[in-house]
Amino acid sequence: MKLMFSISLFLLLPYCTSQTSDVIIESTPASSIGGVIQTELEKTVTLVCTLQSGTHDDKELVWLRNGAAVDLKDGNKENRSSVCISPVIIEDEGATFTCHLKSNTSNKVFVTLNVTYHTDISGLEEVTVEDGESLVLQCHMRANPMVTLVTWKLNGSLVDLSTSSFIITSDGITSKLQINKVERSLHEGLYQCTATSSVYGERSKSFQLTVTEKTLKFPLMPMIAGLVVVGLTALLAIISRWRKIARCCK
Ligand SMILES: *[C@@H]1O[C@H](CO)[C@@H](O)[C@H](O)[C@H]1NC(C)=O
Ligand SMILES: *[C@@H]1O[C@H](CO)[C@@H](O)[C@H](O)[C@H]1NC(C)=O
Ligand SMILES: *[C@@H]1O[C@H](CO)[C@@H](O)[C@H](O)[C@H]1NC(C)=O
Ligand SMILES: *[C@@H]1O[C@H](CO)[C@@H](O)[C@H](O)[C@H]1NC(C)=O
Repeated sequence: MKLMFSISLFLLLPYCTSQTSDVIIESTPASSIGGVIQTELEKTVTLVCTLQSGTHDDKELVWLRNGAAVDLKDGNKENRSSVCISPVIIEDEGATFTCHLKSNTSNKVFVTLNVTYHTDISGLEEVTVEDGESLVLQCHMRANPMVTLVTWKLNGSLVDLSTSSFIITSDGITSKLQINKVERSLHEGLYQCTATSSVYGERSKSFQLTVTEKTLKFPLMPMIAGLVVVGLTALLAIISRWRKIARCCK
């Protein structure tokens, strides 16, 4: 551990000293050459900006996060200023932290966070669908680095895409398994989506699909048509009957 630390410090030094800048940024964990800091969700990143020796009339430092000023307390501005990102969240992925002298914006140094995380899919979801209906199962695949493989299984075997009943689509963030017309004999069972990450390995979510009998929906339109016919017939009957009665009374 101590060895690793000294190596990373060694790697950090050329990056810092090669900057002909008013300020330098040191970080925990250390940044790689190019100023990228590797971190993960829930972790803590500490950044320290230090004024380099030299003649500076003004010693006040400024921190920017993606170009917006970071609110610094008094006593954390002169000569040395630190920023703590704790805990690291998904929105910190790719964020750039810049430090410069308040009086001279032409000399900036920056670091970028590379927040790695796996998709958060997990657990078992119960899904019930009626025979003949359509179905969409979804798994969110957002991850850094991006997942390298997504698979869908039914009862432990990869879903058979050669039969036209399964459609798998993905927009890079969500993977969807779609069935346009569910049939109990073909589709009922345990589904599982699995995302593979080169860094974090596999993660899965399961769906227990139950296909229920088709419920008899009340055929509303034919019924309305039927009622209209009955009503019209009755009306005609009354009219003709009334005519007959009227004729009699003449
Ligand atoms: C900053 O450094 C200068 C000397 O370089 C020193 O005179 C001054 O007191 C320091 N300020 C703080 C707040 O440490
Ligand atoms: C800002 O810093 C650069 C490099 O150190 C220097 O050349 C330039 O004159 C400075 N500008 C001001 C306004 O001090
Ligand atoms: C971020 O870290 C991942 C995992 O180590 C790596 O694959 C990726 O290239 C890094 N991205 C950047 C921008 O450094
Ligand atoms: C999946 O397994 C369940 C339980 O063994 C079974 O009832 C179902 O028919 C199977 N589904 C398919 C499509 O084979």
